[in-house]
This record gives sequence, structure tokens and C-alpha cells, in this order.
Amino acid sequence: MKSLFTCPICGQPLCAEEDRYVCSGGHSFDRAREGYVNLLPANRQHSKAPGDDKEMAAARSRFLEGGWYAPLRDALCDQVAQCAGEAPALLDAGCGEGWYTAALTDCIAARGGQSGGIDLSKPAVKKAARRCPGGEIAVASVYRLPVGDASVEILTNCFSPLAIEEFYRVLKPGGIFLYVVPGPRHLWELKSVLYEKPYENEERREEYPGFRYREVIPVETRFTLSSPRDIGDLYRMTPYFWKTPKAGAERLSRLETLAVTGQFRIHVMEREK
Ligand SMILES: C[S@@+](CC[C@H](N)C(=O)[O-])C[C@H]1O[C@@H](n2cnc3c(N)ncnc32)[C@H](O)[C@@H]1O
Ligand SMILES: [Zn+2]
Repeated sequence: MKSLFTCPICGQPLCAEEDRYVCSGGHSFDRAREGYVNLLPANRQHSKAPGDDKEMAAARSRFLEGGWYAPLRDALCDQVAQCAGEAPALLDAGCGEGWYTAALTDCIAARGGQSGGIDLSKPAVKKAARRCPGGEIAVASVYRLPVGDASVEILTNCFSPLAIEEFYRVLKPGGIFLYVVPGPRHLWELKSVLYEKPYENEERREEYPGFRYREVIPVETRFTLSSPRDIGDLYRMTPYFWKTPKAGAERLSRLETLAVTGQFRIHVMEREK
């Protein structure tokens, strides 16, 4: 089967076989037991930024399975349903454990299309591959996507590093880029426990070369976490986990319940024709 992915060595299209991916140049990449393929070039395998570690991936996976971010997932699927043409190709760049990718894959499959996700983190990709048997999942970097020029109709990026030039390269002219970022008061109550003086996230609408804004879709939800484990999982998913003063982290660890606001923005951009 023709793959969404290209060979990271010679750039030729890859063909997906039962247990490996091959290109016409004779390069071959084994499919792991979980179903994903490692397409990170050998000289980048030992990079200092291997993406999220096993504990981070496990915490995010548990949290997302709780369904609290379902409104965001559903809004993304609505957008895909509105934007997708016939037999569309979708790539989720920085797909993590594939919680959004799985729903997007179903949406694309219903239109006879092909979808996939990549992430730098092997523990995350393992989970994503299990979650998305109908999509293709690879270990790769957003800064060097193993995907052909102008081959993708929809590119999604949820809370992952932005590689705008690569996204421009792989999107078809007129293709759609769905970029999910936190809203100003995302997780405000969590931040209010962690910090004496929490700050709102900056609301930005940046013009990227080669892209035209269609709209910014706000998505808001409120939910109550009622166990220290759920609260801890959410905390671990955030950048605050790495930079919160000890006192704030201790305050949070004493909580049994926490009502939280999830506030997201989906920036919908079109790649110029
Ligand atoms: C905050 S998580 C979001 C994951 C997923 N999109 C979600 O919302 O559940 C950011 C992800 O970016 C990945 N990441 C970091 N640097 C990356 C890179 N250069 N290329 C691809 N993925 C990267 C991490 O491994 C992590 O899975
Ligand atoms: Zn090759």
C-alpha cells in the first residue's frame, strides 16, 4: 500500500508492507510490534530532545482518556469534516499518544482518505500506534517531516512545536493547517494554586508567510477532577510541571478535587495557492 510517508534517506515514496516500509531506492524500515515505524534518520536518533518521556506520555494518555478534552477533539473533527475534500490526506504533526489522531483518523477514513501522525517520543508513538490502527504512525521530527512536498490536505498540530516552513512544504496549495494553542485562561484554576500571581497566556494571531487566516475558533470547557491522581496527571502534562516553585507544587498535591477551565483556540489557516 502506498504510504503517507517518504523515505528519510532518499525522499522517495514509501510503500507500507505487512512488517516493514520500503522505498524504490532499496531502503527498508521495520514496523515495530505496536505498528509504528521509526523514520528518524540514524544521525538524529540520539538527539538531546527525544520528545516526551515515558511518564509524561503515560500521564497525558490517562488524562486524555478521562475525556475532559473531548470538546476540543470534537471541534477539531468538525473542522476536518468541513474542510476535507474527497479522499483527503491528513497528518497530525506532534501527535503524542494519538488521542486526537485516533478521532481524526476515523473522520478521514469515513471520507475514504489516509491519515497519519508523527512524534519524536517513542513512548508516545507506541501508544499512538495502538490507538490508531487505521492510521500510519512514525517516530519523526516536525522539523523534518518524512512526508512529500504538497502531499497533505490537512495538517493538525495540538500543543506541539511549530515548524511552519515544514508545514508549508508538505501542505497542498489550498490545504488547511489547524493549530491548537491554549487560550488566555486555560487551566486558570490550576495556575492559581501553583502561583501566587498567575498570568494569562498571551492571545496572539501571528501572520505566517505563505498562510492566510480563515478564523480562530474558541473552545471552552469546565470540568472537575476528583482525585489527586487526575490532578497530578494534568499537572504533569503542563509546562508548569518543570518550573513551579516547591510551595505551589505542594499546595496542589494536597488537593482532593479541582474544578478547572479548559480554554483552547483552534487557529484555522489556509496554505496559499
Ligand atoms: C504537549 S505534547 C502534545 C501531544 C498531543 N498533540 C496532544 O495534544 O495530546 C507535545 C508533543 O510534542 C512532541 N515533540 C517535541 N518536540 C518534537 C519534535 N521536534 N518533533 C515532533 N514531536 C515533538 C513531544 O514528544 C510531545 O508528544
Ligand atoms: Zn530511500
